[in-house]
Amino acid sequence: MRKTCLTIILAAGEGTRMKSATPKVLHEVAGLPMVVHVLNAANQAGGDKSVVVVGAGADNVASKINNWNNEVSIVIQNERLGTAHAVLAADEWLRQSFDDVLILYGDVPLIQAKTLHNMRHELQNGADLVVLGFEAANPTGYGRLIVDDGQLVAIREHKDASDDEKTISLCNSGIMGFNGSIASELIRAIENNNSQNEYYLTDAVSIARSKGLKVVATTVAEEDVQGVNNRVQLAEVEAVWQQRKRKEMMLNGVSMPAPETVQFAHDTEIGRDTIVEPNVVFASGVSVAENATIRAFSHLEGAEIGEGCIVGPYARLRPGTSMLHGSKVGNFCEVKKATIGIGSKVNHLSYIGDTIIGTKANIGAGTITCNYDGINKHQTKIGNNAFIGSNSSLVAPVEIGDNAIVAAGSVVTKDVPQDALGISRGKQINKDHLAGKIRLRNEAKKNAG
Ligand code: UD1
Ligand code: MG
Repeated sequence: MRKTCLTIILAAGEGTRMKSATPKVLHEVAGLPMVVHVLNAANQAGGDKSVVVVGAGADNVASKINNWNNEVSIVIQNERLGTAHAVLAADEWLRQSFDDVLILYGDVPLIQAKTLHNMRHELQNGADLVVLGFEAANPTGYGRLIVDDGQLVAIREHKDASDDEKTISLCNSGIMGFNGSIASELIRAIENNNSQNEYYLTDAVSIARSKGLKVVATTVAEEDVQGVNNRVQLAEVEAVWQQRKRKEMMLNGVSMPAPETVQFAHDTEIGRDTIVEPNVVFASGVSVAENATIRAFSHLEGAEIGEGCIVGPYARLRPGTSMLHGSKVGNFCEVKKATIGIGSKVNHLSYIGDTIIGTKANIGAGTITCNYDGINKHQTKIGNNAFIGSNSSLVAPVEIGDNAIVAAGSVVTKDVPQDALGISRGKQINKDHLAGKIRLRNEAKKNAG
């Protein structure tokens, strides 16, 4: 029988050490707010309902979260009285009859769905409380898991631990799972009689034990539960995320000769046999089909790249770019809100914006679509098999017909009909022998001066 799952995500942290006007949990990893990473992991682990606990006055956290996921409920912890107190801000949800309850943290974004699955598995095997622990490289500051005879008996906060207990390296990540039928009662029984006068969620362990309930610990690698308190840790978490993503990409058939130099976003999709050369950045919203090549030092955002396309080196693809099968965008080209048709080429030093290019068109070096008049944006259309000579400016709105040719150096302000040659530039005049005369005159000036 399928079990239901409630996730409560604590996000009331002050985040003062981020030194930022942005609330901590909205800082991004791979282009996605940390708290949204956590929400996604909860969903992937079969979560039915997520509730985020934010601090008083954190209205922008609530609205930002709802932008990403409007099924999430937000509750407010008005005073910071400890982790158990924070969880009880969501007590109305705890009291509903979910089978499993998971407690996660908005600033611990690398938690993986498979870990949450394992925790739910323990609950389904009869545990009433499951605590996620890790072997800490440096345990100072963490709550220690006190294990006796294979059973988890208590969690001791660093500040309350004896010298003996401080030698324990098995630490509490803070992430816990509860049997939903007892979660509210157990957490409401927690008192604040400790050195910090806080309601410690961790006290649920000893209370559960005193009631004869089953309490277990599972473990995970430290990097999976690393929290973020400042921007150094934010960068560390980003690095771990990127490393995971690169590995996943390569194992799925993407080649990267220098993976450590490639940066992905949370939603990057790349097909098999595509090659990503060094120093490529994928911002949000990029999908690349199979057999494409993304050459070195390219920056892509909001772009769809078809099969067999070649991008870069040094290309910039901005949102709304769609490259169809076998098309090319080469070095020092910028493309925005434009479709590059099947087999078409924009190979050198061009700006293509608000443009639709048909199939097998050739856009010469230095072609610029003049899409902006200072107030409005205008569209350029370039037909199938059209040839745009180098260093042309296409002043939009303008349309170049199928098979048309635009002569190099033209400033095109009127449509060019299909099969026509459009030429718009000063006419060339050659004056015989004038070059030699000019040189003589210039040399004479130099000698006189
Ligand atoms: C907590 C755990 C500790 C664990 C450590 C892991 C408790 C009592 N201790 O300690 O065992 O090793 O995390 O990092 O749970 N929060 C609220 N409201 C509050 C207090 C905290 O939302 O009133 C949130 C914080 O934003 C933070 C999280 O809960 O995300 C942990 O709180 P924090 O005060 O950092 O607890 P630690 O002392 O680090
Ligand atoms: Mg902490």
